[in-house]
Amino acid sequence: MKVPFIDLKRAHEPLKEELLEAFANTLDHGGFCLGPDVNAFEEGFAKEQGVAGAVGVGSGTEALHLIALALGVGPGDEVIVPDFTFIASAWFAQYVGAKIVFADIDPQTFTIDPQCIEKLITDKTKAIVVTHLFGQAADMDPILALAKDRGIKVVEDSAQAHMALYKGRPVGDIGDAGAFSFYPTKNLGGLGEGGAVTSRDAELLEQIKILRAHGSKERYLNHYVGYNNRLEGLQAASLNVKLPHLRGKTARRQKIARCYLGGINNPDISLPVPARYGESVYHMFTIRHAERDRLKAYLAENGVGSDIVYPYPLHLQPCFNFLGYKEGDFPVSEELAKTCLSLPIVPELTDEEVQYVIDTLNAFE
Ligand SMILES: Cc1ncc(COP(=O)(O)O)c(C=O)c1O
Repeated sequence: MKVPFIDLKRAHEPLKEELLEAFANTLDHGGFCLGPDVNAFEEGFAKEQGVAGAVGVGSGTEALHLIALALGVGPGDEVIVPDFTFIASAWFAQYVGAKIVFADIDPQTFTIDPQCIEKLITDKTKAIVVTHLFGQAADMDPILALAKDRGIKVVEDSAQAHMALYKGRPVGDIGDAGAFSFYPTKNLGGLGEGGAVTSRDAELLEQIKILRAHGSKERYLNHYVGYNNRLEGLQAASLNVKLPHLRGKTARRQKIARCYLGGINNPDISLPVPARYGESVYHMFTIRHAERDRLKAYLAENGVGSDIVYPYPLHLQPCFNFLGYKEGDFPVSEELAKTCLSLPIVPELTDEEVQYVIDTLNAFE
């Protein structure tokens, strides 16, 4: 049997007709950059995600960048960022000239460790980026408590966590702003690049709308230095087709995760630990094994796709050499990078495929 890690063709096949109809509609109304599809998506996504408001932008990376600009983060500021995440979480600080200060992660949830944050706060700390990694919410309450009295902004990188909950609250609606990605492989993915900023702060969302469209409130009158960072109409049209399926697909991911958690009993494999405070949406199902590379090769030989997400902690990325970190600085993050392996968990997997992954893992010696 062959079990793909991700299979976008399989995911899109049942939606093909509906997608083509949606594109025909966009061709008819001609709203290619913003427009009716984007308006409908912003409203629909905010409702489904349970957030006060959403503004569509060009990508998750740009969502982070525009949030940094709107919050006034810049040179002279420090931003605390988890050391184990996708690199764009760190671009939040780097793009606006602020100093990145990495923090280690919690060994169970793989999300930023609030105890590490506390030690890193200085009077220059302007923001904390919290990544809800692999679909698991970070522990927000202690982070919000640290930030509140010091006027530090909390930004939720929710690119991997559509529909995830923290103590019953939707991610992207807890901190000062949330950044979502609709990259094709995300839990809600378009057919290209796309992203959104969410916030309870209507003024901040207005500012994002201005920044995404050349800093302009009024046609050809530019109040700010802005960017061309609009969500495209065709992307929004594809997202409008997919949005009604998000809840069901999330439930399917959670069911597959329960099967893995209950079925994988190979004593050398460490399973992810679901946090007591939240509901993961399992963007990734990431196990750990001391001989990760041998396990990955064995899975491939047996037809099971897997991926190393992520092989390098951020402080050891060559692009951040100038920050002066070294091996050993973040032991939890470093250990995870050496041992992690993500298994197939896309909602399109059949029960037989899930069982095959379990049996294959249990037979590994
Ligand atoms: C945690 C995280 N942050 C930010 C991003 C950036 O999103 P995008 O690829 O849409 O720019 C991604 C996804 O790639 C991500 O996984």
